[in-house]
Amino acid sequence: MADPLAPALGVCYYPEHWPEEGWGREATRMADLGLRWVRVGEFAWSRLEPEPGRLAFDWLDRAIDTLAAAGLQVVLGTPTATPPKWLVDRYPEILPVGRDGRVRGFGSRRHVCFSSPAYRDETRRIVTLLAERYGGHPGVGAWQTDNEYGCHDTVRCYCPRCRSAFQDWLQQRYGTVEALNEAWWTVFWSQEVRDFGEIELPGQAVTESNPSHSLDFYRFASDQVVRYNRLQVDILRARSERPILHNTMGFFDHYDAFALAEGLDALAWDAYPLGMLEESPLPAAVKERYLRVGHPDLIGFNHDLLRGLKDRPFWVMEMQPGAVNWAKTNPLPADGAVRLWAHQAFAHGAEVVSYFRWRAALGAQELMHAGLELHDGRPAPASAEVRRVAAELAPVGGARPRVALLLDYEDLWATELQPHAEGWSYWGLQLAFYGVLRGLGVDVAVTHPDRDLTAFPLVVAPSLHLMDEARAQRLRRYVEGGGRLLLGPRSGAKTRSNLAQAPAPGPLRSLSGVRVDRVDALRPGVAGAVELADTVFGFTTWADLLDVDDASEPGAAQVLARYREPAYGGAAALTRRAVGKGACLTLGAWGDADLLSAVLRPLLAEAGVATTALPGGVRRSRVGRGALLNFGADDAAVDGVQVPGHGVTFLDPPE
Ligand code: GAL
Ligand code: ZN
Repeated sequence: MADPLAPALGVCYYPEHWPEEGWGREATRMADLGLRWVRVGEFAWSRLEPEPGRLAFDWLDRAIDTLAAAGLQVVLGTPTATPPKWLVDRYPEILPVGRDGRVRGFGSRRHVCFSSPAYRDETRRIVTLLAERYGGHPGVGAWQTDNEYGCHDTVRCYCPRCRSAFQDWLQQRYGTVEALNEAWWTVFWSQEVRDFGEIELPGQAVTESNPSHSLDFYRFASDQVVRYNRLQVDILRARSERPILHNTMGFFDHYDAFALAEGLDALAWDAYPLGMLEESPLPAAVKERYLRVGHPDLIGFNHDLLRGLKDRPFWVMEMQPGAVNWAKTNPLPADGAVRLWAHQAFAHGAEVVSYFRWRAALGAQELMHAGLELHDGRPAPASAEVRRVAAELAPVGGARPRVALLLDYEDLWATELQPHAEGWSYWGLQLAFYGVLRGLGVDVAVTHPDRDLTAFPLVVAPSLHLMDEARAQRLRRYVEGGGRLLLGPRSGAKTRSNLAQAPAPGPLRSLSGVRVDRVDALRPGVAGAVELADTVFGFTTWADLLDVDDASEPGAAQVLARYREPAYGGAAALTRRAVGKGACLTLGAWGDADLLSAVLRPLLAEAGVATTALPGGVRRSRVGRGALLNFGADDAAVDGVQVPGHGVTFLDPPE
């Protein structure tokens, strides 16, 4: 049992958008609705400092006091996502440069480059002022650094300061330019450099840049975000004992969220189930089916990832209370969806669910975005559902998932730099395994491959692409100790510097007992066939053709399934090798749901993880408060327990 949690609700509020005489009434209405947290301040720089050095914090003092007087706790955001015009004019170098070489200008937000010394200095100044003033304020219960690093494609900047910072970063990493030339295989196409100062940013070349070069640039850009966040955290930490959070968004993948999480007390994400579905690559029929409730696994996966980042409860800092404004098309939620989403978050281990936003904005870019109140301040339909959720909240412990799904942003970057198959998507493959597990009622911990895995009797690694000895050794120890490891396609195909393993899967070979000399990429719409235990299953997109090492020797991997494609020459598709007290399985193909289920079910049974085939659209979660969550419109039943359409049934706490 995890520690019992007292879950709470909150909202994002912009006092600077509204006349001050109404603040008190708004605060009262928030408290009456059952909200406990209010996030403020994250875009308010031009009101906190209208002119260089002229500070105007008095209104924020009064806003926080007003909220506190109504019994609300504030999450105070640092305003660094929106430097004001005077600041940009004074230091034009803070503006980022796009991959096309054009400066990205003032007029929206995130017009910043993480490598800019002036931006770092200005950040230090404004964050210090805020921390000094509010660090011990009883009304401030938590901090949020900046807002959604990476939103609007702002992690990777192509300005001259980023180029020279990248060169320094490379010098640190490689020491000598010879080592870099070797790591990147720059002999190819005469890409050799004589000096770190000669290195360009990738993405500027005539055609595709060297993938080793690009991967290091992605690592560098991610590190810049982590380093920038640490600058804010250090300032806040020295002046405040309150927890420090940052809010990411679903499927943001330009920085390594595990690395970002290290410096923070808790992670939050911004959950927009309908916007996320609309913008996803899911087929039209799936989008239609889940039009007004969102897809349970797109949402659930992000909850489980957020929980996994720090292996602790997470926050939803922004939750959709009605239509959003930013998807290509923005539908209204179904009745019940807002309640369903909140309980889903708590069932996955959220400690706070906070809505974006309180009252709908009268102007500017987000005026079409719903709030808990309408433009005129009357309650929006969602507020009745939120009131009900507040009344239903109960402190609970939760079960620990027994199945881990391994995710590494570097593997995502490397595979997507060389997708090789049009349909390749790292997230897509993660979700394929995740969806099958969730459809069987299994709770999943999304975690990093270098974490301690011994608590998980089953570990699923959809694509552990970049492999070195150290990681392979850790995995071997996990398996030897009794763990079951399932490796998916493209595992072990590359070295850390994104070179081919010769042969693949490199250091994983002594664990899996297989070799991969050939891979096949399938065009979208083309399916292949695999025969497993006398049944034929389908796969798409990708096939690693597995050859078993020393097949006749004792201790060799066993072939559990073979491909049926004549061109594959009888290669294995699924193998299993006993190692120590455990087993390592390799699945070469991107299996369809039936194949993944046929592979996973026996492993789950061996691991002692109970499964239930859930009706479509129904999910069971027990990481927080146990619940059946029905994303289908029709009533359903699971093991005799009813769950209404678009509704929730709470389950007893696990034993
Ligand atoms: C988030 C962002 C908010 C707001 C919201 C609209 O990504 O953090 O500031 O823009 O989207 O849905
Ligand atoms: Zn830059």
